[in-house]
Amino acid sequence: MSFECVECGYESTNWMGRCPRCSSWDSIVETSKYETKDSTPSRATVATTELKKLSEIKSNKKERIKSNIDGFDRITDGLVKDEILLLAGPPGVGKSTLFLQLAQNYSQGGRKVIFVSGEESPSQIKVHASRLGIKGESIRVIGSGDLGEIKKIIEKEKPEILFVDSIQAVAAPGVNSAPGTIKQVKESGRQLTSVAKNSGIRVMISGQITKQGTIAGPKVLEHMVDAVIYIDSVEHDTRMITAEKNRFGACGDFALFNLTSKGLKEAGELTGLKADGSITGQTACSVSVGPRLVGVQLQVLVSENYFEYPLRRTSGYSRNRLLMLTAIAQKYLGIKSGKFDIYLNITGHNTVKERISDLGVITALYSGFKDMPIKGTDMFLGEVGLNGKVLPLKDIQNRIKFAVRNNFKRVILSSPRINIKDPGVELKIIDSVREIKGIIK
Ligand SMILES: Nc1ncnc2c1ncn2[C@@H]1O[C@H](COP(=O)(O)OP(=O)(O)OP(=O)(O)O)[C@@H](O)[C@H]1O
Ligand SMILES: [Mg+2]
Repeated sequence: MSFECVECGYESTNWMGRCPRCSSWDSIVETSKYETKDSTPSRATVATTELKKLSEIKSNKKERIKSNIDGFDRITDGLVKDEILLLAGPPGVGKSTLFLQLAQNYSQGGRKVIFVSGEESPSQIKVHASRLGIKGESIRVIGSGDLGEIKKIIEKEKPEILFVDSIQAVAAPGVNSAPGTIKQVKESGRQLTSVAKNSGIRVMISGQITKQGTIAGPKVLEHMVDAVIYIDSVEHDTRMITAEKNRFGACGDFALFNLTSKGLKEAGELTGLKADGSITGQTACSVSVGPRLVGVQLQVLVSENYFEYPLRRTSGYSRNRLLMLTAIAQKYLGIKSGKFDIYLNITGHNTVKERISDLGVITALYSGFKDMPIKGTDMFLGEVGLNGKVLPLKDIQNRIKFAVRNNFKRVILSSPRINIKDPGVELKIIDSVREIKGIIK
């Protein structure tokens, strides 16, 4: 009997509840029942060994096809011939939904599209598609994960685009391992890459990542595929799509969608940032994600501590940075945090690493300790040094435009000189965090 961890590929001769290598619970599966005689995995993905002049090779540049889902097209820059793309995301985030919508749009104009669904049965796919208003006259569905069979159908039908939902449900012939294991995902990925490269089909595969973000299976595919697109949930119904890797387009941009009962609908730039009301312990800030800005709210909760040590808990923010900012607030704003627990939460985006959020965190701390509400129409921008000085902002124009677009009335920041005619918001220039006292009085 042989067993393998689906998270890290650890092999063992006996079953265990917890993987000794990656410490994942319940991740060891039996692989011996998948053993076959033929165990030689294919190696090469691109079969052309002919020597050609680079100048004479035909370029696929003009053959980019677009899905007419603007955000997705902007992120991928269209699909080129032979391209293989991986869409990775946590369970239930909307991967199959996006794939069905893409399949529908790509199939317009008579393009042959095959949709391999190893996870949902064809009748479930039908229910899912009907909910999205997709008739799918030009989409053909395969409800199997057997890659050998799938390849035979592809050879016969020669589709232009192949969707594989998902890689974890596919089993490549000749691999002695269960679907979803590292071995299987790797070999299925390699075989699908070779399908894309050698038969000119654009292949899109989905892969599930865990809620903790450990992309066990799909991670091993990242170097193999041409593009890796992540879909993640940034708020209850908001989904963010980003390109982590793109051989034929730029990386760093993102697109926002709302997941509705009718599928993914493109959303504006705002993610839960509302410039209204006054709340204690909450400030607004903008952080950059690739070339664009996202609005975030920094929430601080201060509560009396009943234990020996006060707690410092953060969600989506560095705990060490919070400790440092608390010390700065203590020294320059006179708050006494020793007998209080502090919780810091980020809304509107998963994580904030930019130091431009320092001023907002310190202000939220001060507001929380003094129980003084902060106007929701104020935005706080600036890194803070250990001497309490607020550092001048670099991309000031962009940040101010973002604040204006999102209905903020005042931006609190530091700048040696500001030369913006009619910025559209009040600019409150400060030099030190000490001045916060006068701002939120
Ligand atoms: N009737 C409905 N109305 C609104 N939203 C729905 C409805 N049915 C499903 N959803 C949403 O769609 C999501 C499922 O989307 P989808 O199946 O595309 O996700 P997935 O990423 O493919 O999931 P999995 O990892 O399980 O394959 C659900 O989590 C749910 O939020
Ligand atoms: Mg799915």
